[in-house]
Amino acid sequence: MLTRENNELLTRTGPDTRMGGLLRLYWLPALLVEELPEPDCPPVRVSLLSERLVAFRNSEGRIGLIDEACPHRGASLVYGRSENSGIRCIYHGWKMDIGGNVVEMPCERGDPASMERIKVQSYPVREAGGIVWAYLGPKDKMPPFPAFEWMNLPATHVHVQKILIECNYLQSIEGGIDSAHISFLHSTEINYGHIATATKDTAPEFEVQEMPYGFRYAALRNRDAENRYVRITPFIMPFYTIVPFAENQPQAQHAWVPADDHHNWAYTFTFKRGEPLTRDEWTHAADLTDGYRKFRNVGNQHLQDRAAMKSGKSFSGIPEILDQDAAVQESMGFIVDRTKEHLRKTDAAIVHLRRLYLKKLEGAQQSDEGINQEAFACQDTIRCRIAVVPSASDWRSLE
Ligand code: FES
Ligand SMILES: [Fe+2]
Repeated sequence: MLTRENNELLTRTGPDTRMGGLLRLYWLPALLVEELPEPDCPPVRVSLLSERLVAFRNSEGRIGLIDEACPHRGASLVYGRSENSGIRCIYHGWKMDIGGNVVEMPCERGDPASMERIKVQSYPVREAGGIVWAYLGPKDKMPPFPAFEWMNLPATHVHVQKILIECNYLQSIEGGIDSAHISFLHSTEINYGHIATATKDTAPEFEVQEMPYGFRYAALRNRDAENRYVRITPFIMPFYTIVPFAENQPQAQHAWVPADDHHNWAYTFTFKRGEPLTRDEWTHAADLTDGYRKFRNVGNQHLQDRAAMKSGKSFSGIPEILDQDAAVQESMGFIVDRTKEHLRKTDAAIVHLRRLYLKKLEGAQQSDEGINQEAFACQDTIRCRIAVVPSASDWRSLE
């Protein structure tokens, strides 16, 4: 369990919060490149770390990420017009550029000095791997740009999906480092090859290894046999995991990015190293509606099919894996009360994650260094693992 204070500390990520300060020391996935397909296309609302922003692609094809509220009297620039290298508010016609400068005030004649004094908050962005990345932190602490393996693969080898999950980001991350649940929640869908072993041994042992990028943990099954079945999941600061799949299978990295304290953006980066992905190989996708929202949500109890549960067709009554994960995370409420939980041995990675965050928060407060630069050096070499190893050996020797 967590104290009420620490639960608050870890789950609040707005501009004046400590966790928000830590997350602002990283480049963050802000939206998909496909949301801004061409110069002067419609602007897009971006909710990120409880900030309300608007993204637009100007006439030169460059992307701006600035405050959603017009600096005049606060009308939303999501309604604005992308035109002539800027975004124009439809209320009184003020126009801003990607740097957050007010470049036109057509309803105010002869007042250029006041135009120069007004500045809209704008953030640096970069496009890579189908993602528009943004940095919301202090300029002097900008970290190296992410260098994950999939970001350098051809577009045909990668599929990126974004879904709005209607709960705090920490609930979703804790689902991502919780290998025990696959034996239950996903038992009907993940039941082939090595993974069948995982679903049969429902009480894995968990061991954690510190890494420069965060940590990795092993779920060890079949403890009494000669060989053990090991699934190794890396957790990469500040919110990434790589799901353990065999090397010849499509790989899947996840990110859970806080939109606000009650919502997060779940990104899934599915990729194959040597060849293009086929449609069937995309990570089991949730059905989406406008704004990357799921059709299945708490309001309709994720359309849980009780008949399928009774007949044995489905353990959870929810067909897709991503919907199953979202259902249990959202079922806890927007921010789960962690003072009431009872953690056990299979929650070891979750305990480790919270300690790591608390340690990083302490470090961020004490030093001006920002984050551990070393963590970025090896980013493209981080791998998940599934292996069958002799019981006497140590899984930590696996790369
Ligand atoms: S509110 Fe935007 S120009 Fe007046
Ligand atoms: Fe899951």
